[in-house]
Amino acid sequence: MSDTPVTVLGLGAMGTALACALLKAGFRTTVWNRTAAKAEALAGEGARHAATVAEAVEASPLVVVCLLDHDSVHDTLAPVAGALSGKAVTNLTSGKPRQARELAAWAADRGVDYLDGGIMAVPPMIATPAAFILYSGPRDVFETHRAALDAMARSEYLGEDVGLASLYDIALLSAMYGMFAGILHAHALIRSEDIKAADFAPMLGSWLNGMSGAATGVAARIDQGDYAQGVVSNLAMQEAGFHHLLETAEEQGVSPELLAPLAPLMTRRVADGHGHEDLSGLVELLRTRA
Ligand SMILES: NC(=O)c1ccc[n+]([C@@H]2O[C@H](COP(=O)([O-])OP(=O)(O)OC[C@H]3O[C@@H](n4cnc5c(N)ncnc54)[C@H](OP(=O)(O)O)[C@@H]3O)[C@@H](O)[C@H]2O)c1
Repeated sequence: MSDTPVTVLGLGAMGTALACALLKAGFRTTVWNRTAAKAEALAGEGARHAATVAEAVEASPLVVVCLLDHDSVHDTLAPVAGALSGKAVTNLTSGKPRQARELAAWAADRGVDYLDGGIMAVPPMIATPAAFILYSGPRDVFETHRAALDAMARSEYLGEDVGLASLYDIALLSAMYGMFAGILHAHALIRSEDIKAADFAPMLGSWLNGMSGAATGVAARIDQGDYAQGVVSNLAMQEAGFHHLLETAEEQGVSPELLAPLAPLMTRRVADGHGHEDLSGLVELLRTRA
């Protein structure tokens, strides 16, 4: 048994995986869920099942929250604000930076230490080397509870600004969805000729793996604000070629809507005189406020 008891609020797919990981690591774990039946299996594995949120909060100095959304976190924590005073709340519910800052201010007003988190895993990955969880908020709170946090997944502490975990979370998910959009479009094209997706998948995976290294080069250009040095595939050439992608989709009977938003950005950047530069300069068109 580890010294520090931990409470988990929320036993959906993710909360259950987190509670299981804590139990397996030897933490005395108290669980609560709105629908009490979901706690039964965990109770069988040694978790203490609290009948109320107040009872659950009372049991541990660290309260891990993994509920559906920001509103459900508010609804669950607000009635027990008094009992939370002097404790640490680590909120792993997905949310936005603004919501994290709002919850942190709410917590600070009530004497609650607040860490925000973002889970970069699906439930079966929890407590495996592939999973990591982003954290932001007071470093001392993170360090105090590090052992329990590390039991759920590798911990990545991003800094004192409590909004950072959700910002990184959303940035990483945005990149993932961009990749998924590309994968789906590629499969739609291949399927238009009755080729089996499974026959195409190995080549697609190998191509994406090779291309993923571009993230580092793009970062260097963005940080330097220089998109013109050492260009090997200039934007004007790519813009001309990109129209073939959209036209081929139409000709193959595939909707270009997942890919189409890139085209006007490329055209605008070329028209602005950046045709000799790298594609990564498109990032300059995405800023909507100074
Ligand atoms: N699953 C994933 O792959 C994954 C990956 C990364 C991050 N996350 C994040 O982890 C969080 C939980 O996800 P999940 O997969 O566990 O979702 P889930 O299986 O749908 O579970 C949702 C949980 O929230 C509770 N809940 C919903 N509304 C509530 C309310 N108004 N008051 C109190 N409890 C409420 C549910 O309680 P009941 O059981 O009573 O309905 C349940 O415990 C989400 O923010 C999600 O974005 C999930």
